[in-house]
Amino acid sequence: MTHIRISGTGSALPPRIVSNHDLEQRVNTSDAWIRERTGIEQRHVADEGIMTSDLATQAARAALDAAGIAASDVDLLIVATTTPDMVFPSTACIVQAKLGIGGCIAFDIQAVCTGFLYGLATAERFMRAGGVRHALVIGAETFTRLLDWNDRGTCVLFGDGAGAVVLSLADQPGLLSSHLHADGHHVGMLCVPGHVDGGRIQPSPFVHMDGQAVFKFAVRVLDEVCREALAANDCSIDAVDWLIPHQANTRILSSTARRLGIDEQRVVVTVPKHGNTSAASVPLALDTAVRDGRVQRGQLLLLTAVGGGFTWGSALLRF
Ligand code: UT7
Repeated sequence: MTHIRISGTGSALPPRIVSNHDLEQRVNTSDAWIRERTGIEQRHVADEGIMTSDLATQAARAALDAAGIAASDVDLLIVATTTPDMVFPSTACIVQAKLGIGGCIAFDIQAVCTGFLYGLATAERFMRAGGVRHALVIGAETFTRLLDWNDRGTCVLFGDGAGAVVLSLADQPGLLSSHLHADGHHVGMLCVPGHVDGGRIQPSPFVHMDGQAVFKFAVRVLDEVCREALAANDCSIDAVDWLIPHQANTRILSSTARRLGIDEQRVVVTVPKHGNTSAASVPLALDTAVRDGRVQRGQLLLLTAVGGGFTWGSALLRF
């Protein structure tokens, strides 16, 4: 049996911080409303000129350093993003060039907020099939570029950032299982309904969302897909050291923890400082918790996410 472990993690945030008070100047909202309904206090926003590939490359370098391998050792490079630098080529190819490497497999994955878990599961399957020793899986977003800053229902929720992991072949079990799902019947619940047409984005370049429907859907499927991961490994939630969910909002995280029966002290929560960073959120939360000492080697981690599509997934791993 091939074993695969996370040999290093990294992350990156653009320097500019936008607080809830800053947003009070732009739309009819309040710091109190945003904190109460979402838990968000601030988010990082990429200034003009900072591209998704820049954040992805910075996170990737940190993950490579942590893994103790060179960029030239990477056999597979996957970028999960909803906000690619260009329509084409892929952001993965741009990151590959910025890392100064060439020749390895590189492609993007689009599963919105579940993108990192789709990337992880895809890399796992490549590695089990043979021919890939080290894979770089990155979630990176400049999601704030999709926001209508006059729409208070969406503009307060999101932020920019990137997170990355290096997956390496190993002697001991690391990644134990991954489970992915999608249901395209819910396209309209959360989407940016735009395509490029004759030099314009039609019909809209902005995020559209039915917040309450997303909330209910998210809480249900996160619970289901986490239980699926536990059942597949004959494992109890009590054995899990850290639940690392997509950082959408603290109420979704609390409801998920309650349904699963895990103490909220064992849930990694970074949404207050980062907002919802879509595909970057899970690896950014993971790296934050690794670097601040919460997540330790040998611990059992349950990663889970849900996003537009709708898509959802989970991964259980020994770190
Ligand atoms: O990756 C997944 C991404 N999406 C999500 O995570 C979204 C999930 N959904 C949610 O987190 C919540 O539904 C929201 C935070 C988006 C909204 O919270 P809610 O408790 O569902 O509020 P609501 O939509 O029912 O709106 C309540 C009120 C409305 O006013 P009225 O109609 O009661 O007068 C809204 O217009 O709050 C108003 N409102 C706001 N007020 C101040 C909506 N946005 C804001 C705002 N500031 N930013």
